[in-house]
Amino acid sequence: MSPTIDQALHSARARLAEARFEPALREANLLLSRTLGWNEARLLARGSDDLDDSRLARFQGMVERRLSGEPIAYILGEKEFFGRTFFVDRRVLIPRPETEHLVEITKILHLPAESRILDIGTGSGCLAVTLLAEMPRSRSVATDVSLAALRVAASNGRRHKVSERLDLVAADLGSAVNLAAFDLVVSNPPYIGRDEAPSLSPEVRDFEPEEALFAGPTGHSLLQRLLDTLSDLKIGTPLLFEIGAGQADFVADSAASSAFDLEALHPDLAGIERIAQLRRR
Ligand SMILES: C[S@@+](CC[C@H](N)C(=O)[O-])C[C@H]1O[C@@H](n2cnc3c(N)ncnc32)[C@H](O)[C@@H]1O
Repeated sequence: MSPTIDQALHSARARLAEARFEPALREANLLLSRTLGWNEARLLARGSDDLDDSRLARFQGMVERRLSGEPIAYILGEKEFFGRTFFVDRRVLIPRPETEHLVEITKILHLPAESRILDIGTGSGCLAVTLLAEMPRSRSVATDVSLAALRVAASNGRRHKVSERLDLVAADLGSAVNLAAFDLVVSNPPYIGRDEAPSLSPEVRDFEPEEALFAGPTGHSLLQRLLDTLSDLKIGTPLLFEIGAGQADFVADSAASSAFDLEALHPDLAGIERIAQLRRR
């Protein structure tokens, strides 16, 4: 006999909770809502409906993926970032709430409305696409070494109707672009040290793309190269990039011997210095 929606949810919640996937209740709801193409309110209101075999199998397949440790954003195929929904899959890093601070900080820079923005290491495109959506007369070039990631960024550009103002370029950092043309550079580069890999959660280490996570043994190599290779920016151009916990001193030291002034280190909600704000001197 087919289980009802409530029975299927109950058993999925119990399995997720047993495997310590919290919040199990919410995750089970999200996965079954996605299976049925319903919102959660409808799901909860129709708990006594039967679930047919093919939908039950799809739902159980998703629960198994979650139990294997796969992040829920990859299973659902999307993630919220700065109030918009982005396509994500295993080709790209899942956008993080910390990175939303970088978008907020662009607002205090009083950029010209027609700014040209360079996003280095765009991944899902969450930064470039959000900034283009927030600044409707701006244009952006977004780079990535991963062609697969650039395809996801292109989908997100279409989804949020900014494709005409977004150029996607396969390049190492900002190497293939005319740096002097930009009014702002943003980046959330890989900044985890390979030495730290054993301490990462399996959800991150086993599922997110390596090239999106790691930068050399200590995690500093791309931060250093960003500063070294962006000296052709116009004098006065702001550069905002995300850093990892404990990297603020390294950035301050590196900036002192670079072509940039370090103007601020902005903390995230956990109080960790997370966004470095620099300016080409
Ligand atoms: C931490 S992810 C950030 C993705 C996205 N900007 C975000 O904030 O969610 C870093 C991205 O940089 C890309 N990347 C790694 N090395 C790079 C390099 N040398 N030049 C350009 N992009 C690079 C990775 O492929 C990955 O998509």
